[in-house]
Amino acid sequence: MPLSFEIQRNSDARTDEQVAEILRDPGFGVHFTDHMVSITWTKGQGWHSATVKPYGPLTLDPSAAVLHYGQEIFEGMKAYRHEDGSVHLFRPEQNAARFNRSAARMMLPDLPEEDFVEAVRQLVEIDARYVPAPEGEHSLYIRPFMIASEAFLGVRAAEEVTFLVIASPVGPYFANGVQGVDIWVTDEWARAGQGGTGNAKCGGNYAASLIAQYEGYEHGCTQVMFIEATGKDRVEELGGMNVFLISKNNELLTPALSGTILDGITRDSILKVGAEQGLIPVERRLSAQEVFDGIADGTYTEAFCCGTAAVISPISGFKSKRGEWRPQGQDFRRTIEIRDGVLDIQYGRAEDTFGWLSKVV
Ligand code: PLP
Ligand code: COI
Repeated sequence: MPLSFEIQRNSDARTDEQVAEILRDPGFGVHFTDHMVSITWTKGQGWHSATVKPYGPLTLDPSAAVLHYGQEIFEGMKAYRHEDGSVHLFRPEQNAARFNRSAARMMLPDLPEEDFVEAVRQLVEIDARYVPAPEGEHSLYIRPFMIASEAFLGVRAAEEVTFLVIASPVGPYFANGVQGVDIWVTDEWARAGQGGTGNAKCGGNYAASLIAQYEGYEHGCTQVMFIEATGKDRVEELGGMNVFLISKNNELLTPALSGTILDGITRDSILKVGAEQGLIPVERRLSAQEVFDGIADGTYTEAFCCGTAAVISPISGFKSKRGEWRPQGQDFRRTIEIRDGVLDIQYGRAEDTFGWLSKVV
């Protein structure tokens, strides 16, 4: 039986003028909408108390397991406004399915996909005025997450868990994204190892990536790219994005899903849109040295990173302790074509031939 949601409207919601002011320059993840969704799971009772309620602080016991052992997962997705005013989600069932794969890895309960999608739809519908107009790639970023809320310090799977959804109107994640970002390739830090949590979307992965990201900042880079933990030089992904290369032979290359990287929904969409644009999708093992050498000898002409938050950003260069490499492709031409191909579907400017959009209002 699908869950039914109790709606508690926020009597202190922002005025339309206040919302318009936020939407003029939303930033990323700094402003939140008037409501949030909360659903509770308890062992024995399962999922219950599905509520749309005013956005606000949570009450958690200081011994709540999530605060100590990090039993937590999350998702990132967006709602897009089309020119005709309608609002659409992009492949939400994919987020729901990945959420449950992450839940299984972290010993959190399965949330039926239809309840996950309905929770997101409820929030987007009630706070639809926060979905910005499509100009400047603005959208409503949606953050579903699940936390071990049980008050208990023993190390075991929590028997009380809370699922929440919050939403934030956003502009581009990278201020100068389309101009290209420089990526630091760390030889020192690893993000994930075989059998670890690299392919789950859990908070600890991001905490573990920060030290490398700051190493990247010290070298003038915006993001960091990780290579496999065992030191065999296989390229994995960035702290919060997947990575692609385009070759002079029209190959669209990305590291194969190895169990240690996140199976990005943008990644999967790009492989499909790229193929439609005449590129040859290739998912395989790529070594960092091969990437560096291939850029140097002109085999790889473009590189880009991608994710829901980051959209698709050209990579202007890779830097590492071993040197610096800059793809020589003209003006990121193919990257921009792929980027436009994906964004045009998301914003309803191109026909949704893959059936990826799901209309909310
Ligand atoms: N890799 C990591 C580590 C991420 O956090 C994300 C963002 O969600 C991605 C890749 C891209 O995934 P998606 O395209 O589903 O947003
Ligand atoms: C997303 O793209 O949704 C993410 O979760 C990545 C994060 C760096 C914001």
